[in-house]
Amino acid sequence: MRPPSFFGTLVLCGRVVATTSNPSVVDTKNNVTYKGLNRNGVEAFLNVPYGQDTSGANRFKPPRAFVPKSGSTINAQTYGPACPQPLGEGLPPLTLSNVTEISEDCLNLNIIRPTNVTTEDRLPVLVYIYGGGFWTGQNSELVTQPDGMILESVENGLPIIHVAMNYRLGVWGFAKSDALNSEGSENAALRDQRLAIEWVRDNIQNFGGDPSKITISGQSSGGLAVGMQIMAFGGSKPAPFQRGICESQALEPGITGNFTINAMQAVVDYVGCNTTALHSPETVECLRGLSMETLEAAEEATHGDDIAHNIGDIWLPTVDGDFLPLAPSQLIAEHKFANVDVMMGWCQDDVALFTDTSITTPAETQSFLSSYLPSLSTSNLNALLSLYPSTSFTATPSLSAEFHRTARIFRDILMVCEPVYYGAALAAAGNSVYLYEWNQTILDPILAYLNEAPADLGVIHTSEFAYVFGNISHWDTAGYPFAPTPADYALVSRGSRSWSTFASLGVPGTEDTDTFQGFGTSFRKGGDGGKNASFSVFVAGGPEEGFSPVDGDGARKVVREQLLRERCGVINSEGFVRELGF
Ligand SMILES: *[C@@H]1O[C@H](CO)[C@@H](O)[C@H](O)[C@H]1NC(C)=O
Ligand SMILES: *[C@@H]1O[C@H](CO)[C@@H](O)[C@H](O)[C@H]1NC(C)=O
Ligand SMILES: *[C@@H]1O[C@H](CO)[C@@H](O)[C@H](O)[C@H]1NC(C)=O
Ligand SMILES: *[C@@H]1O[C@H](CO)[C@@H](O)[C@H](O)[C@H]1NC(C)=O
Ligand SMILES: *[C@@H]1O[C@H](CO)[C@@H](O)[C@H](O)[C@H]1NC(C)=O
Ligand SMILES: *[C@@H]1O[C@H](CO)[C@@H](O)[C@H](O)[C@H]1NC(C)=O
Ligand SMILES: *[C@@H]1O[C@H](CO)[C@@H](O)[C@H](O)[C@H]1NC(C)=O
Ligand SMILES: *[C@@H]1O[C@H](CO)[C@@H](O)[C@H](O)[C@H]1NC(C)=O
Repeated sequence: MRPPSFFGTLVLCGRVVATTSNPSVVDTKNNVTYKGLNRNGVEAFLNVPYGQDTSGANRFKPPRAFVPKSGSTINAQTYGPACPQPLGEGLPPLTLSNVTEISEDCLNLNIIRPTNVTTEDRLPVLVYIYGGGFWTGQNSELVTQPDGMILESVENGLPIIHVAMNYRLGVWGFAKSDALNSEGSENAALRDQRLAIEWVRDNIQNFGGDPSKITISGQSSGGLAVGMQIMAFGGSKPAPFQRGICESQALEPGITGNFTINAMQAVVDYVGCNTTALHSPETVECLRGLSMETLEAAEEATHGDDIAHNIGDIWLPTVDGDFLPLAPSQLIAEHKFANVDVMMGWCQDDVALFTDTSITTPAETQSFLSSYLPSLSTSNLNALLSLYPSTSFTATPSLSAEFHRTARIFRDILMVCEPVYYGAALAAAGNSVYLYEWNQTILDPILAYLNEAPADLGVIHTSEFAYVFGNISHWDTAGYPFAPTPADYALVSRGSRSWSTFASLGVPGTEDTDTFQGFGTSFRKGGDGGKNASFSVFVAGGPEEGFSPVDGDGARKVVREQLLRERCGVINSEGFVRELGF
């Protein structure tokens, strides 16, 4: 941060700009002016194009960089359109905004920065990749706006800049066939994200950012995306970022399975593009000839029942021999990834939100899990169930003990053991890995009010948003019950500052600031890759915040009781990983 050059104005890229008017940034190299706006005490540049229109012949293709015309001015004062996805209501409050405008010309990003930044400030940059099951998501989502986090980062003395990109979803971003593979078009969504990160690397200096201090972050499928960006090209190309944060996902079962190709077949059949064969160039041609509305309607009509199909995550990254050269588990085992420091974590009761609340018997647990994991053999399913005895779970007012058992197994498979698997390998390769378990929420009463779920689901998926984005008031809306405690407000400050501190310094806290205290690295660096090695977890929020080994000396009871070392040891064993399919 620089003080203003003289009273009332500041010098920005060599031009004098009055601070009271809306901010603008000049890219002198390309002779382009970006006109942003002031809001909430920060500066926002919205709908900044990074990729060209993806419609017509560009549909499914790798994105092409947007090159602004020399001498042009880009109006960056209103959000751009979302990428094609279902219009209308999301699942409030998990997605508060209605998706009202979609377009294939959607490759834009938003930049939020403190006021009074100059190009010499070279602030660290946090890039956000939204979640939504690679099915929905937009960078204009209210609850993920980082204005509060930016203000907290300034208060903390370590200011950062935040960038959030749109990227293609569903069939638009994950279309798959041999013909698409031959033209290098698979995993287009991951390539969009990559192009956006490269845009940040190449352009953020104009906005006062440091291209050598980029942290990519994401939640849910956005966390999976961060995991994919870290292993992109098997680590054979330099990564355009230095650190990563994976919230509630870093990998996903089913990536090496058939969900995506089956979803592709269903879309192709639905629109009648299977005149020759699924994998033919004619089929791609036919799909490119459809209107956006027709193709979107087809992906929605064929999306199917959520739980029957991998909780709706049917459009997944797939092994394409290029962006993802091998199965993720193999890339991890062979240390074919970018060497970056990471923070990865989950919410205490993460996927309870996606677990069938009517479960009351062990037979129902088994049936839920076998439907979620169709490739898991009976013997491994039984081995899994025996690691979680029904008797070690207790009922809560509206949910059975068996429900909590199912939710915990589901959590460990999707949200806990995969980050442990990935994190252990990153640490073995010499990187710092920080694992957290988020244990505080304001969502339960809201879900109960909306009758979306009972009030005792616990600390569900997305619970950290209200804190880490630095504005708990996003949830004070639509008459929802809203009564944060002083502990909630304290966690807004501590949580968001820990996130921005990680972006600044690569550690989630420092002793002399209001950040997570005692949050050390979770694995021994250069260890054996975590083959059943012990590790530690930082419990963030809740009545017992702090760092603890998962077992052994000094393990806190509430952490030890989760048996993470033993359970992840089995879930991460070779036979399991093969059957889980990643
Ligand atoms: C930015 O600079 C202006 C002009 O000097 C000043 O009034 C304002 O307080 C500064 N804002 C911050 C956040 O430092
Ligand atoms: C930049 O664009 C402006 C507006 O079109 C033009 O007047 C100016 O000559 C251009 N400068 C350079 C260096 O190209
Ligand atoms: C979304 O928009 C529709 C139509 O305008 C409206 O009925 C609905 O209440 C909105 N939902 C939310 C969560 O804002
Ligand atoms: C995927 O489909 C192929 C071809 O139909 C089949 O051989 C394979 O067993 C399927 N894999 C899974 C995990 O279902
Ligand atoms: C296309 O799909 C439809 C519906 O699944 C099927 O009836 C038809 O035989 C398919 N045509 C070809 C050429 O594969
Ligand atoms: C926080 O959110 C509330 C409600 O959406 C909004 O009115 C306020 O301007 C926001 N403040 C910041 C700093 O983002
Ligand atoms: C999480 O918080 C609950 C109370 O909200 C507490 O009972 C539990 O022990 C905490 N778990 C951990 C791991 O700290
Ligand atoms: C870890 O331990 C479990 C249970 O003892 C065992 O089944 C598994 O194979 C071990 N995993 C590895 C990777 O050694």
